[in-house]
Amino acid sequence: MFSFGFKEPEVLERKGPDFFEPARPAAPPRLMPLAELVVNARRNLLTIWPESDYRSTVGTTRVLGRQVVLVNSPESVKYVMHTRHENFERKSPQMRRALEYLLGDGLFISDGETWKRRRPLVADIVHKNRVPTFGKTMEAVTAEMVARWENMPAGQPFDVLLEMAELTAEIIARTVFGNDLGSHAANEVIQGFSRYQSLIDSFNLGYFLGANEGWPVLRGPRLRNSVKRVHNVVEKVINDHLAGKGEDDSMVQLLVKRQKRNPDLGLDLSALRNEAATIFMAGHETTAATLTWAWYLLSNAPWVEEQVVAEIDRVTGGRRPTVEDVPQLEWCRAVIEETLRLYPPVPILARQAREADRIGNIDVDPAALALVVPWLLHRANDLWDKPDRFMPERFLGEQRPIPYSYIPFAIGPRICAGMNFGLTESILCLAILIQRFKIRVAEGFKVDPVCRLTLRPRGGMPVTMTARH
Ligand code: HEM
Repeated sequence: MFSFGFKEPEVLERKGPDFFEPARPAAPPRLMPLAELVVNARRNLLTIWPESDYRSTVGTTRVLGRQVVLVNSPESVKYVMHTRHENFERKSPQMRRALEYLLGDGLFISDGETWKRRRPLVADIVHKNRVPTFGKTMEAVTAEMVARWENMPAGQPFDVLLEMAELTAEIIARTVFGNDLGSHAANEVIQGFSRYQSLIDSFNLGYFLGANEGWPVLRGPRLRNSVKRVHNVVEKVINDHLAGKGEDDSMVQLLVKRQKRNPDLGLDLSALRNEAATIFMAGHETTAATLTWAWYLLSNAPWVEEQVVAEIDRVTGGRRPTVEDVPQLEWCRAVIEETLRLYPPVPILARQAREADRIGNIDVDPAALALVVPWLLHRANDLWDKPDRFMPERFLGEQRPIPYSYIPFAIGPRICAGMNFGLTESILCLAILIQRFKIRVAEGFKVDPVCRLTLRPRGGMPVTMTARH
């Protein structure tokens, strides 16, 4: 790709005996010129925000012909995500175009009537009341990982991002598709998704050049192949359930049961497939990223790690943590909440205005791009004390952030349907693994957060691990 005069931004990281400011790209002093902005946006969307955006603010600019509005204050977030939700519920053309081939009209990218009809259905099958059942799968899969890690040679570096991706993919595969999926089919789905993500571009030039719906993504043979791998497996599982084969508590089973009970729902094979694939995708990457960032933070803040391990010991008396323990694990929860503040897995929520509007004192064009950016909001220096520091204690006890300043799961009617699932899973997996293992980022590895669709460490996260006794 063209890279005239391109300079990688510096990555800042500071630490002392009792504080840790984890890696973040240095903010440019002012908004970049257009060509530089486009190159940087395609490489890493975290690097484009000037210093002045790290505070509560609402601003507007034009990229080529398109109005882009930055929505970065609690009041404006409330306005866009809640008050005027209907005008801003539509995902950006980038997001819709990037995912539509794989997810069709799945909840994550649908809007209007389809979204309204499907939202209660999907929200219900991943609802918090079902989390105790799904929790048993989380426990079992993590216990299998413990057994595997116990047989790994101590001190041998491995990529904890890959391990966490495998862990959360296995959990979501078993909860969505049931225990009988089999490892070959599970791998087909996991690899199909990961291949798909590596092939699509999250930047849609057509939209900025005036096409309100963006340009369709080119469906080349490799992309087609990755989609086929996922669809084949998911359709087979659904067909089996439709034919009455396999009774389990999986989410597919629940969807099929709903449809059988109420044919007016109109969930045909492709709708069932799209919703199952959506839940799989939405629930796997995000939790893997959260756990990976948590390992990085804890590895550099041993004073927090001590609190976490001591709490697990107090609550469990040495036995393996279970889903029933989660409400008592306050430090674990605070670590996960602080991790989600510093590294929100979905760092940018991009919406397309349906009609003209006014956010704060900014006039918004129809089809303008409204950007709610948890990455900026969570680090706004007028909303948070020492925003760049890892301080999980800010989430302990009754303390809560200023309303609409902390939105790792989005907010308003489109809030993450799997929030309780994702939180419980992150806390439980962390507790089970940290009780047995001490993880340290590999000596000399420079962590570099990078955002394309989700926020991940560039090149993974090499770590070493030792068993705790
Ligand atoms: C730590 C873990 C997770 C994080 C940080 C997270 C974050 C998010 C965010 C920010 C959105 C809104 C995106 C937008 O508006 O552009 C979202 C939507 C969604 N998430 Fe999650 N998520 C997590 C885990 C999960 C899990 C485990 C599931 C399912 C089991 C799930 C299912 C969904 C679904 C179905 C949507 C679409 C909701 C709608 O549009 O109505 N998520 N998630």
